[in-house]
Amino acid sequence: MTSNDSVSAIKWQNDHLLLLDQRRLPHEVVWLPINNATETADAIRDMVVRGAPAIGITAAYGIVMAAREHFFRSPEDWLSTIQSDLELLRKARPTAVNLAWAIDRMSGLFNRIDGDPVAILFAEAKAIHEEDIAANRRMGELGAELITSGNGVLTHCNAGSLATGGYGTALGVIRSAWQQKRINAVYADETRPWLQGARLTAWELMEDGIPAKLVVEGAASALMASDRIGWVIVGSDRIAANGDVCNKIGTCNLAIIARHYGVKFMVVAPVSSCDPKMPSGQDIPIESRDSNEILSLGEQRIAAASATAWNPVFDITPAALVDALVTEKGVIRQPDADKMRALWN
Ligand code: MRU
Repeated sequence: MTSNDSVSAIKWQNDHLLLLDQRRLPHEVVWLPINNATETADAIRDMVVRGAPAIGITAAYGIVMAAREHFFRSPEDWLSTIQSDLELLRKARPTAVNLAWAIDRMSGLFNRIDGDPVAILFAEAKAIHEEDIAANRRMGELGAELITSGNGVLTHCNAGSLATGGYGTALGVIRSAWQQKRINAVYADETRPWLQGARLTAWELMEDGIPAKLVVEGAASALMASDRIGWVIVGSDRIAANGDVCNKIGTCNLAIIARHYGVKFMVVAPVSSCDPKMPSGQDIPIESRDSNEILSLGEQRIAAASATAWNPVFDITPAALVDALVTEKGVIRQPDADKMRALWN
């Protein structure tokens, strides 16, 4: 473990998964045991674990547990009986492509397995987990090299260790840039309504000794006008074939404001978050969650009694507003369909 990276959210322990319950952070650090595919899908849907790469890794371990259960019940038929669990996992959240990517990668091995599938599938899930951490470290190096201004950065939601196998995508770049003294302040949007910025990013950065300054999302324009930041740095749930970026609702606002003030906009995401089958951002399915997430804060209703709400949880930033897309395969400046194609070849 190197400095500025002590947080992890996904652990395999003996024969089951442990997830750090992100709904309870930062006030309580509680590890939830997960034993089968249904519990895995529930944990993803209910935001025990969240963040695109973390969802994919969790689903991969979920498939190990599902295969164990189905093989134990019926060694002859596990390949067909496991299918309903795969569908359950696939539907847990619709937007992050890492979920489908991990399920496809795991199930792509099924036909090559003869006998007990657990050891082979566990090795694959572990590889997905470890490759994600390695990709984040590489992206951390590549992204940090782009930062020369020496002033602050702004990030949105949580794209850190908690949202990945470890180190983080956007927060991986921030960790590396902080270690190299390339930035002097990290501003984090509080990120309504789940407050991933206030609860998770601030916690994760403070755990690792990186001071975080929270701002309300409405402060973005004032912050960028003040010359305090040189880059906005975010992660992504899915990047379309033309370079459009899907990420936490409010990301596109930041990209528009950044372009207005001449602040640079960086997206940091592994190739597993890129979806060559999705021609543009407009085609990406956007998850809509319960309006009570906006109307209430925890158990406490905050909106007027008869008010209703619209709660899409991701938005699309057009590729034209992205200055740099950082993947583990390299940096793409001003991404477009032609430059994106290089990722698949
Ligand atoms: O709804 P969430 O918390 O799962 O949303 C997470 C994000 O939008 C992250 O920015 C994205 O998944 C990238 S995580 C490395």
